[in-house]
Amino acid sequence: MKTENTVWHAHQISKVQRANLKKQRPCLLWYTGLSGSGKSTVANAVDTLLFERGFHSYLLDGDNVRHGLNGDLGFSDQDRIENIRRISEVGKLFIDAGMIVSTAFISPFAAERKVAKNMLEQGEFIEIYIDTPIAVCEQRDPKGLYKKARSGDIKDFTGIDSTYDVPLTPDIHIKTEKLSIVQCAEQIIHYLIAHQYIK
Ligand code: PPS
Repeated sequence: MKTENTVWHAHQISKVQRANLKKQRPCLLWYTGLSGSGKSTVANAVDTLLFERGFHSYLLDGDNVRHGLNGDLGFSDQDRIENIRRISEVGKLFIDAGMIVSTAFISPFAAERKVAKNMLEQGEFIEIYIDTPIAVCEQRDPKGLYKKARSGDIKDFTGIDSTYDVPLTPDIHIKTEKLSIVQCAEQIIHYLIAHQYIK
């Protein structure tokens, strides 16, 4: 627990200096969308394009982070809130390291996405709504989880018996039904160039 004896140490190297080294502006690409919407797929495609162009990026993925750092958390509302709180803090550290960091979590609650945004400086948080209708996610069902949720084997499943707050004003809105993975990734790269995060 943080106490009055917990003292903040300022770094000698600033995040701007770290980012300048990589010729990029640090930002957090916050992907949000239903399970099976394509968050990880699109985030991976963008991460690959950034890497190929020589930028310093990293991807934090929901399933993977739940194997380690957040392995103690389930899918109750409280656990999802704590999941997103920890990821927001980790994302902030990556920003401080001058990086372009992507987070691919359902992040179902608008309030927690807002908290994540408010932890950062203006322009550092980019909300990306991976918009795939639930009927399409359910048809894809890559992990067979919708089937289990419908039969009652999984409780608190997003979009079925757990809330998903649709982003009302995302910075980037990706309608995956109408686009290929490459087109989705290029839409995001174009945004980063247009807003001068990368050249
Ligand atoms: S959250 O809501 O942001 O805390 O969820 P996240 O950490 O992104 O984890 C989502 C992945 O966990 C699997 N899974 C579930 N998703 C939703 N609801 C329930 N009950 C659930 N149980 C397991 C599922 O594989 C999600 O992965 P994605 O990539 O989103 O499909």
